[in-house]
Amino acid sequence: MKIKNENEEILSLIDRSRLPEHVAIIMDGNGRWAQSMGLPRIAGHQAGMKSVKRVIQTANDMGIKALTLYAFSTENWSRPPKEIEALMTLLCRYLRMEVENLNKQNVQIRFMGRIYQLPELVQRELDKATKATSKNSGLILNIALNYSGRADIVDGVSHLAADIHVGKIQVDEINEAVFQRYLSTADLPEVDLLIRTSGEMRISNFLLWEIAYTELWITPIYWPEFNREHFYQALIDYQKRKRRFGGTAAL
Ligand code: IPE
Ligand code: IPE
Ligand code: MG
Repeated sequence: MKIKNENEEILSLIDRSRLPEHVAIIMDGNGRWAQSMGLPRIAGHQAGMKSVKRVIQTANDMGIKALTLYAFSTENWSRPPKEIEALMTLLCRYLRMEVENLNKQNVQIRFMGRIYQLPELVQRELDKATKATSKNSGLILNIALNYSGRADIVDGVSHLAADIHVGKIQVDEINEAVFQRYLSTADLPEVDLLIRTSGEMRISNFLLWEIAYTELWITPIYWPEFNREHFYQALIDYQKRKRRFGGTAAL
């Protein structure tokens, strides 16, 4: 009961008409959380899945349009094979268990990154989940897998060059808006808010082009402990920011 009241209090501080349209999260600190509990790193990833579910539910309840989660970077292949395998297994298990729930919540799941380089078994699960939720009109849940901001820009450039080569587009037609359409986030709203857990003050090759004017919110909390209240706090802080986009503050 007490928790509910506290939630209501913090919720009343959020202006529903000024929510970020697109929130992106660098879910970091699973390993350190596990270490702090005397557990193996993989237990941290397992615990992190609960935070994933919480954050999806919260974003959907709030009416946020898109949520992009950084689940596996192109650099994460440098981790021990056992850890990578555990991450892939957890992902597949999550998808098998949660698709029904995502459908109930009207959440549409998508994936971005070099998906074709993932194990085939994983690719099949991603495909199933994408198709099963494709008609949903609620939150767009965009999961970044084998993703990096630089790789996505390079892939976009390569695709654009191919289109120039076949005459689909002329060199003098290229501008920011045109190039943006070649990125994986092309049909999503601008990323208004980027959250990173575990206190690291870096981007770790996540969205690069997209965060030009994104508001950043970094918390020392490890990902497995990130809960609804932390998310609400990020939204409250976001709403206090004066977004100037290079201009002057409105008086
Ligand atoms: C984030 O937690 C999960 C992934 C990168 C897949 P980490 O595994 O990076 O945890 P720390 O940063 O080592 O604590
Ligand atoms: C970023 O976390 C990648 C994901 C959350 C998937 P990392 O743990 O890989 O980032 P670094 O190594 O601390 O920069
Ligand atoms: Mg980390």
